[in-house]
Amino acid sequence: MKITVVGAGAVGASCAEYIAMKNFASEVVLVDVKEGLAEGKAMDLMQTASFKDFNTRIIGTTGDYGKTANSEVIVVTSGVPRKPGMTREELVNINAEIVLNVTRNALKYSPDAILIMVTNPMDTMTYLAHKSFNLPKNRIIGMGGALDTARFRYRLAEVLECPISDVEGMVIAAHSDTGMLPLISKATRNGVPVEELIDKEKQNHIVEETKIGGATLVKLLGTSAWYAPGAAVAGMVHSILGDHKKMIPCSAWLDGEYGEKDICLGVPSIIGRNGIEEIIELSLNDEEREKFRMFADAVRKVNQDLKI
Ligand code: 2OP
Repeated sequence: MKITVVGAGAVGASCAEYIAMKNFASEVVLVDVKEGLAEGKAMDLMQTASFKDFNTRIIGTTGDYGKTANSEVIVVTSGVPRKPGMTREELVNINAEIVLNVTRNALKYSPDAILIMVTNPMDTMTYLAHKSFNLPKNRIIGMGGALDTARFRYRLAEVLECPISDVEGMVIAAHSDTGMLPLISKATRNGVPVEELIDKEKQNHIVEETKIGGATLVKLLGTSAWYAPGAAVAGMVHSILGDHKKMIPCSAWLDGEYGEKDICLGVPSIIGRNGIEEIIELSLNDEEREKFRMFADAVRKVNQDLKI
């Protein structure tokens, strides 16, 4: 099985590394516009194979999309990452043009591929892909909720002082500093609702830290994070190509689900060989439902900034 990762920056290279390490794909093709970057990172990653014991072949190419032909999955990470103090939404028109261009090039050689959009503002880039390419709705997936959920679990475990494997939770709605909805009401530690374990102040702390999880790292790193985004993508690709049917919060085209239409937002999705195979409608309390609606409206405003 072959995966193309467009963009050999930190996120793209991490995607390639973690996909390779899972050892289920035959080939990962890294593509970039910067001369030699994709080739160099692919070669460096291949030279870890003897340490990490994977057989996946990673190759890189500077703009030769012919090498990506017949990919089952195309991951789009190309674009400008945000700088400290920036929101993801400020990148909308810089990145829209890049995303359209690279996605068109990749789809030309892999017209049946499933698209995973990573570039920010991710919900809007996912929406742009739906509006620009005549693909079935299930074959365009935005990666955001998987990453935000990982950060939610990290914060839950930090407060509960327990292993991250002890806690479960989910983040839905927008992959944005203000539009994310960590579902604290459904979070558990070994099946015990966290609302029974920690007080409201600690719950609010976890929610707020989760929402700014990306911005916190941009401030520390001077640029966007890459390890967790890369790992989040690799998990989605694995569920697609392994047809695992994992429930993963992803940015999906909504056509009435959660009361929303003509928008892409993070919702629990069953991810299998056909991409988004089912959207799960959770029962939300009044506050959560109202926030979901508000956050959808905020994403709509960004979508309206798209010059398409
Ligand atoms: C993040 O939250 C890059 O949007 C991504 O780190």
